[in-house]
This record gives sequence, C-alpha cells and structure tokens, in this order.
Amino acid sequence: MVSRTIPVDPFDLVIFGGTGDLARRKILPSLYRRYLAGQIPEDSQIIGAARSELDEAGFRDLVRASVEEFLPASKRDATTLAAFLTHIRYVAVDAKGEAGWVELGEMMREGVIHAHYFSVAPSLFGDLAQRLCEFNIANADSRIVVEKPFGKDLKTARSLNEVLARHFPEQQIYRIDHYLGKETVQNLMAIRFANILFEPLWKTEYIDHVQITVAETVGVDGRGAYYDTSGAMRDMVQNHMMQLLCLIAMEPPYHFDPDAVRDEKLKVIRALEKVRPEDIVRGQYASQGGKPGYIEDSENPNSRTESYIAMKVGIANWRWKGTPFYLRTGKRLRARTSEIAITFRRPPHSIFDDPDGSRENVLVIRLQPNEGINLKVMIKEPGPGGMRLVQVPLDMSFAQALGEEGTDIPDAYERLIMDVIRGNQTLFMRGDEVEAAWAWADPVIEGWEARGERPHVYQPGTSGPDDALMLMHRDGRRWREIKE
Ligand code: BG6
Repeated sequence: MVSRTIPVDPFDLVIFGGTGDLARRKILPSLYRRYLAGQIPEDSQIIGAARSELDEAGFRDLVRASVEEFLPASKRDATTLAAFLTHIRYVAVDAKGEAGWVELGEMMREGVIHAHYFSVAPSLFGDLAQRLCEFNIANADSRIVVEKPFGKDLKTARSLNEVLARHFPEQQIYRIDHYLGKETVQNLMAIRFANILFEPLWKTEYIDHVQITVAETVGVDGRGAYYDTSGAMRDMVQNHMMQLLCLIAMEPPYHFDPDAVRDEKLKVIRALEKVRPEDIVRGQYASQGGKPGYIEDSENPNSRTESYIAMKVGIANWRWKGTPFYLRTGKRLRARTSEIAITFRRPPHSIFDDPDGSRENVLVIRLQPNEGINLKVMIKEPGPGGMRLVQVPLDMSFAQALGEEGTDIPDAYERLIMDVIRGNQTLFMRGDEVEAAWAWADPVIEGWEARGERPHVYQPGTSGPDDALMLMHRDGRRWREIKE
C-alpha cells in the first residue's frame, strides 16, 4: 500500500526545553521520522531553545544522539539523519530574563509558519508567552503547544488558561494529550461515525457496560518525586482515559471539525456523575524480589498516592444512563496493554436450547500493542449433533489488514506535531474541556483525601488489588484479563 504523506507548509518550530527529556525521547525523534517520510519541507527550521549554553554543533549532537537512542536502527538511516541535522538550530534563552530573545527573534523567518513548543515546567508558560509577545516574536498566526500536566486541579488549570489567554487566543493554543494522537484512538471515531453498523446500537438499551483498561508494566522509577504529587487519577484518568471515554460516549459531531468534536466531548464530561467512594479502588505496587515498591520509588514512606486506580463512572444523559463505564489503569501490572471493551446486552430471548446461546457480544478496540478491532459473535459450532453455539472473534489486526502501513504506525507525537503545523486543533484539548475534566476529578480526589484513605497494596505482575475485582463482581460482571 502506498503511504500517503502530504508535505506540510514550511515552518520554524521552536522547542523550548529542547534539551529536556520529552524533547529527546519524543519530539526530536518524531520530527526526524516525519522528515524521513518526506513530510517536512527542506526550507523548515527546528530551533532548540533552552538555558544551556550549547552551540549549534552541540545541540545537533544531542539531536543525533536522541534519534539514535530512541528510534530502532530499522527506523532511521545515516544519510537522512545527516540531512535532517542541517535543519537544526539552537539558541540559549532565559525564560525569566532578557538573554537570547533578540537572537531568537532574528532566527525566525517571515512568510513561514511559526510554532512554539513549551516543553517546560508549566510554571514557565506565562514567562515564555510574555517574552514571545514582548520581543515581537509571536504573530497572529503563531501556534503555542503545551503539554500535560495542565494543572493539578481546577484552580491551577484555570490559572494556566488565564496566563496563556493573556497573550494568545484559544485558536492559537494546542494542548497536547498524546492519547488523542494514537492511531486506534482516532479509529474510534472512524468506527463510530464512518459506519452505520454500530451507531443504532450505541446506547444503553443495547450496551451493558464499557471497560477501559490502560495497564503498564513499568513503575514510576526515575520520576517518583513528580509522580507522588500526581498519582494515577491525575496522571492518566483526568486526561487520557477521560478522552477515551469521551470518544466512546459523545454524540456524532456535525462535522469532523475541531470545535464540533470538542463541543461534543465537553458535553460528555459535563454529564459525568459524581463518583461514589465505594466505586473507587486505589492501589500501590509492593516491592518484589529486590525490586523496589511504590513507597521506595516515590521516596516517600508515608505516601498515599495511587499507582493504580479502578473506578465505576456513570454518565447522566439519555444515551448512557444505566450503562456503567469501568475504568482502570496502573503501573507494574501483568502486561502492557490498552483496550476498550464494549459489552452488548444479551439477546432478550434465546431460541436455542443452549445456555451459551445467550452470551453477549463484545467489541474490543485494542489501542496497544497489536492495534486492532475484535468483535466477539456467536456462531454454530461446526459438525453434527444439534445446534450448539460457540463464541468466536471476528478479528481485524491492523498489521494483517493493512500490511506495512498497519505495522509502521507513526508515534502519536508525529501526527500531533504535524497537526500543529497544519493548524488543525481537532486532536488537542480546548481550555474548557480541561477545566471540565478537573471539575469532575477534584471532588473525587478531595473525597479520598478527606477520608484519609490509604491505597491497597498489590503485587507487581498481577492485575492490581483484589478489591478491584469486587468492584465488578458485585455488579455481576467481570474485568477482562490483562494480557498482551
Ligand atoms: C503519560 C503518563 O502521560 O502517559 C505516564 O504521564 C504514562 O505515567 C504514559 O506511563 C503512558 O503513555 P503510553 O503512550 O506509553 O501509553
């Protein structure tokens, strides 16, 4: 299958925090991959901006090392990497002072798209936005890209929105949630809105419940101090899992247009019911076989922060009232897997003399690994002996269905950065969406803090605390097994 890569317009992209972890792991390798795919025009510049007094050659070395470290050899080659490096420039800037800003302004060219990626601590967003305006570097078409964490509660998110809004209108602000850049996450919208098949059944009359699982095998090692101020609720649920939930639950937008899509997601968030304390289970991974537990990784012996959370969430609207959404995410679990499973209700009456005849259909959307879609349906078991039924998967793996294009899926950051250059905000969170998500999450967090609850301890390599099983058992349902 021929890859359809459409080049973007020439641009100057400034990466503030260009020497930092996110730039090295994700932003720079992703830009290289897009260059390799022929999407980045030759007259584009990528400008690293950071505090370090590096020269251009020093920054190019860092870019080369990042690409070599974070992309497998099969995804890069020396010739294009050398060509890519000729587009890289560097300037040392002081976010809180005057140094470097005039030089940065001189590097930016007229007549090309300007984008400024704030890959820095949120406390610097205001300073950067202000300097870009003060030094006349930003124009009415410049794009500002910011990362999560976008606040730690409604109050802090609001003040970040206000700080940015002082200098830039919403149409210029791109808030990244990298889950929205994942191939299968976008496929959720394609499955729902490009097919007639599912939509008539997509409601509480036909859907029994939805399970969203994001399981990781890694712990928080290396960033325990930060993570301990966050926890799974703030780190994963308020943003990534909320976005997944919205894409499943939202009404069809009138068009695939940024505000039309985001308006519909916002309505879902606003319709979320308050989560009851008995519908939440939090956990912390234990130490095992000499491997540190959460308490050691966080370096906080009294930590009450959760590395695992499972919860039951209701949506109070006509489409979903009565269909629970069960969410769970955690670190150091049995396997790395992210999936959404939609379990349909059983047929109202089974005409077959077979207890299995009334088993429910399940639609599973696998986000990672092995992206694909699987629909479990009932068929007749082959052979004589009467009408015995068996459940089989209608399985579509991207790799099988789409060949090379199905396996060589671009990283979420590749798509999102190109969308910034294209000026398409559909896959970015709007300010009101982020605030609404915090408005829902805040009372949940405040609730367990006020109750002084400690997370349950769970063994690494399992599916989390046993109490999380109960969350579904008591409703007569079961979590799907966590496996790759
Ligand atoms: C990040 C979280 O946003 O997402 C991390 O801060 C988490 O804690 C990561 O590990 C998961 O992303 P992915 O793409 O590996 O599923």
